[in-house]
Amino acid sequence: MSDIFDFEQRKDQYAVMGNPISHSKSPRIHSLFARQTAQQLEYKAIQVDPGGFQQAVGQFDAAGSKGLNITVPFKQEAWELVTERSERAERAGAVNTIKFEHNKLIGDNTDGVGLVNDLLLNHQIEIKGRRILLMGAGGAARGVLAPLLSQQPASITIANRTVDKAVELATLFADMGSVKASSYEDLSGQQFDIIINATAASLQGQLPPLPDGVIAEGGCCYDMMYGAEPTTFMQWASQHGAGKVLDGLGMLVEQAAESFYIWRGVKPETRPVIQTLRDELNKHVAD
Ligand code: ATR
Repeated sequence: MSDIFDFEQRKDQYAVMGNPISHSKSPRIHSLFARQTAQQLEYKAIQVDPGGFQQAVGQFDAAGSKGLNITVPFKQEAWELVTERSERAERAGAVNTIKFEHNKLIGDNTDGVGLVNDLLLNHQIEIKGRRILLMGAGGAARGVLAPLLSQQPASITIANRTVDKAVELATLFADMGSVKASSYEDLSGQQFDIIINATAASLQGQLPPLPDGVIAEGGCCYDMMYGAEPTTFMQWASQHGAGKVLDGLGMLVEQAAESFYIWRGVKPETRPVIQTLRDELNKHVAD
């Protein structure tokens, strides 16, 4: 009995912190990665109260833990807290991955590379030379801009209800490529090869006010949200002639894989894990 306990104690410790956190799929994903790559680790979900983030990270670090994922609403606070930031985290203004190393907190952001890898590797959707429409100008949109731009799309148009926020983001990333800001109305008459929903609209079953005709022939529509059922935006996309309609489950698993790689130096295979999660989502509906 005590041997088992000792063995558990020796496993490297990881966690995701957020609020709320009970719905998080990260512990499931990382345990699947660990099993697949034969890594000994424990990964749990920790709910943190508003105002308690810094202390929670300090305690977790002091306990000899190896790494942390951070989700809503603490990604910006994590950005401020870390002692070092990767270039992509610096740009994102948010940190979703911390590696504890020799008294340093090394911050990274794997959300954008998660999206890019899902598009390129899982769905064979070329980004280079494509016209991209990114809907939303909050943290989710900002987090994916640098990795998307590094793939050299023809242009990225950021559309937002509050246009000023889109203008701010476009200005912030202007040195990386062709980035424009727009209202939804002004999209009328334009067409895009890839349309990405980074707004919170799907959470409320709402749809950003997109004009008809914005999807280029064979164009791809991608919702960064996911669920057992297609989101409102995905339903709209299917009804308006999108060539491919995708949700964000693949992005979730890909960002986790990148975090796992940062911590463990091993890249897990994502496809079987995405499939397992998809099956579990569908089963949940059937039950
Ligand atoms: P996150 O960190 O998830 O990006 P956020 O920073 O609160 O969250 O940003 C939410 C984004 O969703 C914003 O771009 C918001 O638009 P506004 O800036 O105009 O508020 C967008 N959003 C939320 N609900 C929306 C809806 N029903 N239709 C269109 N955009 C919506």
